Amino acid sequence: MGIIIKSDEEIALMRKAGKITAKVLNVVTASVRAGMRTEELDAIAEKETKRYGAKPSFKGYRGYPANLCVSVNDEIVHGIPDKRILKEGDIVSIDFGVIYKGFQGDCARTVGVGVISSEARRLMETTAGALKAGIAAARAGARLGDISATIEEYAESCGYSVVREYTGHGIGRQMHEDPQVPNSTKSVLGLMKGTGPVLRKGMTLALEPMVNIGGWETKLDDNMWTVRTRDGSLSAHFEDTIAITDGEPEVLTSA
Ligand code: MF3
Ligand code: CO
Repeated sequence: MGIIIKSDEEIALMRKAGKITAKVLNVVTASVRAGMRTEELDAIAEKETKRYGAKPSFKGYRGYPANLCVSVNDEIVHGIPDKRILKEGDIVSIDFGVIYKGFQGDCARTVGVGVISSEARRLMETTAGALKAGIAAARAGARLGDISATIEEYAESCGYSVVREYTGHGIGRQMHEDPQVPNSTKSVLGLMKGTGPVLRKGMTLALEPMVNIGGWETKLDDNMWTVRTRDGSLSAHFEDTIAITDGEPEVLTSA
């Protein structure tokens, strides 16, 4: 399919989609409380999205059954909201996307439930920092592999490992467009620093590092969606949709 370069008009629509996505996710993350069921968060996302005339994008995507992905503790991504009750000390990764006027926004944040351990806090801050560093590397003229290497170096320098089998992605009219954006140079794509496609103004990408306290290896639950760390260690996930510009990268999923 190839990488689709967006016009300024298309970027303007993606900015709107991204803003709605971030605003809804903010309401959802702010609602997280001990004693709550993860499916209650899903209902909040659905209701909030309607207020903006947008549509949640995950439900029905390859048969995915919910509006949000809610991944708790050792769950990395694609946790399905259900009757599970959140408890004090859990960390919760919430991933959400919308479609608005034909364009997609996609973002994720990990938040704590009440008081969390200092180790969990450090993991969350490191993952957010890795995303921020990856975004800063996403400049016209750089290579895609520069983003992957930057994210990986940031997380590994803090002693953590980066999930290799799941990646970020191009995004636009489709949630997943070319290119795949690995968070690691050790992914199957083997995208090293200084290699891969040259980044150009008008490319729109979702960067989404998933960082584990323990090993990078994953396992898939029997539901064929929920991905968790193989060693049971905690995992965090932060994602933003960005646009490459002539200058600073623009975060489209900012509220
Ligand atoms: N942010 C995730 C991704 O980019 C969301 C997809 S979940 C799915 O892949 F359920 F929609 F598949
Ligand atoms: Co994504």
